[in-house]
Amino acid sequence: MYSSANRRYTAPTVMEKLVFFLVLFTGCSAKYEADLKGKVFTFPLVSTNSYVELQPDMEGSLSAVTVCLRSFPDNKRANTLFSLATPSHMNAFLLYQSEVGAYRVHINDMRYDFFGLPDHLNKWNSVCWTWDSRTGITQVWVNGMRSVRIMLYADGVIAGAPSIILGQEQDTYGGGFDKAQCFLGELTDVHMWNYVLTPCEINSYMSDISFTPGNVLNWRAINYTVHSNVFVEENQLHACY
Ligand SMILES: *[C@@H]1O[C@H](CO)[C@@H](O)[C@H](O)[C@H]1NC(C)=O
Repeated sequence: MYSSANRRYTAPTVMEKLVFFLVLFTGCSAKYEADLKGKVFTFPLVSTNSYVELQPDMEGSLSAVTVCLRSFPDNKRANTLFSLATPSHMNAFLLYQSEVGAYRVHINDMRYDFFGLPDHLNKWNSVCWTWDSRTGITQVWVNGMRSVRIMLYADGVIAGAPSIILGQEQDTYGGGFDKAQCFLGELTDVHMWNYVLTPCEINSYMSDISFTPGNVLNWRAINYTVHSNVFVEENQLHACY
């Protein structure tokens, strides 16, 4: 009698071996330093398992941060833009777009909502976010417009090895994803600095003219690991150049 159980004992076919080695190979080589100039991460579906891990180039704690990125989100929903967790704070440095023009920031689990920022629909949006522990002041910039400057977290630093994830929001260190908070759309030009950029430097980033790349995350030399349905694609903005 032919039963499916018998299939377990058949030797793997050449194809099965090939798939096995491909999985091994991509599993080991997924983490590498790449220049992503002109590339985007496309997050094309709502999920709890599609995301990108970024390896920061840093040691010790952060007493100031700037994160800049460009986002082309699905604006019918809320989207997590940048999730940095530490072993003691799941929302250590979290940027969340709650609706069009509204950006929610968390620093070591303290939270503030910025409103009235000029998001473009169905276009790329340039977003920068700064924080300095010396004053506790945090601020976001969207497409050249700045927000108010708010004291949010002045009680210390962001300490412990950061787990940085694009595409999902961490409710546990490196996990605890909720599909209602995942990112749907495209992200590009992700940079992170361990200091506050001047308004002039932020404007250079926003206009995409020459700027000093991030010293913690640099899109031109970044170590990343892609999980499930995230695709590294050409930016359609540059497709005709
Ligand atoms: C990327 O990872 C490799 C291996 O761990 C390391 O040698 C390299 O410095 C990393 N590059 C960056 C930009 O962090």
